[in-house]
Amino acid sequence: MTTSIKTVLVGCGKMGLMQAKIIASLPEFKLTGVCDINPTNAEAAAAATGAKPHDDFNAMLAEHRPDAVAICTANDTHAAYTIAAAQFPSVRGIYCEKPMATNLGDARAMVAVCREKKIPLVINHQRRIGPDLTEARRLIQAGAIGAVSFVRCQCAGDLLSDGTHLVDSLLYLAGDQPVTWVFGQIHRVGNERRFGHVIETGGFAVVEFASGWRGELLTGDIRDPNSAYHDLQIFGTTGRLWRKGDQWPNLDIQDAASGVWRAVPIPNPTESGIAVAYRLFADTMQHGTAHPMNGDIALQGFEVLMAIYESARLHRKLTLPLPQDRFPLELMIKAGQL
Ligand SMILES: NC(=O)c1ccc[n+]([C@@H]2O[C@H](COP(=O)([O-])OP(=O)(O)OC[C@H]3O[C@@H](n4cnc5c(N)ncnc54)[C@H](O)[C@@H]3O)[C@@H](O)[C@H]2O)c1
Repeated sequence: MTTSIKTVLVGCGKMGLMQAKIIASLPEFKLTGVCDINPTNAEAAAAATGAKPHDDFNAMLAEHRPDAVAICTANDTHAAYTIAAAQFPSVRGIYCEKPMATNLGDARAMVAVCREKKIPLVINHQRRIGPDLTEARRLIQAGAIGAVSFVRCQCAGDLLSDGTHLVDSLLYLAGDQPVTWVFGQIHRVGNERRFGHVIETGGFAVVEFASGWRGELLTGDIRDPNSAYHDLQIFGTTGRLWRKGDQWPNLDIQDAASGVWRAVPIPNPTESGIAVAYRLFADTMQHGTAHPMNGDIALQGFEVLMAIYESARLHRKLTLPLPQDRFPLELMIKAGQL
């Protein structure tokens, strides 16, 4: 019998509370500590799970000496907590919320330190393991809509918090092949901030993959206002696939000759994607199996996000890898470009 993975969690807001309950419900894990700078939130998560509440992350690590750390704080703190956790001697695995970071330098440092310490890093892009996207990728690879060369992706919200899922889904559908170039544009109205950083109001981008596939991204107020939160249309030579939002059933297929759309039969998920992802994380920690939401894959998507901003900053189509390590949106605002 394998021993359960002693786990602590930092950031007990909406997502943290949900994850704390998931971890506490899974026999693979034992949640012993929860931490938040807001003691009310830490106490609520503690009351819901039986873990001990803390207001200091380092003190929590020192007291519990955990095997795994879950990070559900605001986006601007993911990198510092991941790096601190990876450097703590007992820690053997990290599960961190998306987006990885708020600049490419931090995201690269997170992956580098986890690789150096041989610690699996998982980034919570749970959409890529959902039965809808898994089935869409299977159908693409089976040739069900002929040869694919174009995917249109739309989502509400900003690129970092919402677009990160969109880019990750696009990469997943494209078989996680490398992206060769990115062209992007953004605009910003007002001074809105979210999860600890500046955000744009709307964005548009085209990315090209090594195989020649192209993806088009429309986010925030640039997307079709009638489209669902996370809308993906995949164009093939003999038909189309449409992931038309989060409302189940959400995957349709169209036959090009007849034009007829029909629902793709996929089972209604019986477990949350995040719970499935945590069980896979336990497998990764206990048996060394690769996690489908690992840090290397997330870093690829994060580089695309940063390249969209950088392309907008420089007014150029950019070939990857991206040399800019900072947050281009912040640079644009500081320079008065936006
Ligand atoms: N994977 C998904 O589908 C998904 C969905 C929603 C949110 N998220 C991500 O989850 C994270 C949290 O989102 P949320 O909606 O729970 O936000 P939230 O504002 O409800 O919660 C954030 C919590 O973190 C705490 N916190 C902030 N900075 C901290 C610090 N330095 N140390 C300790 N605690 C700190 C806050 O007090 C708060 O309790 C964000 O990164 C967000 O992008 C992911």
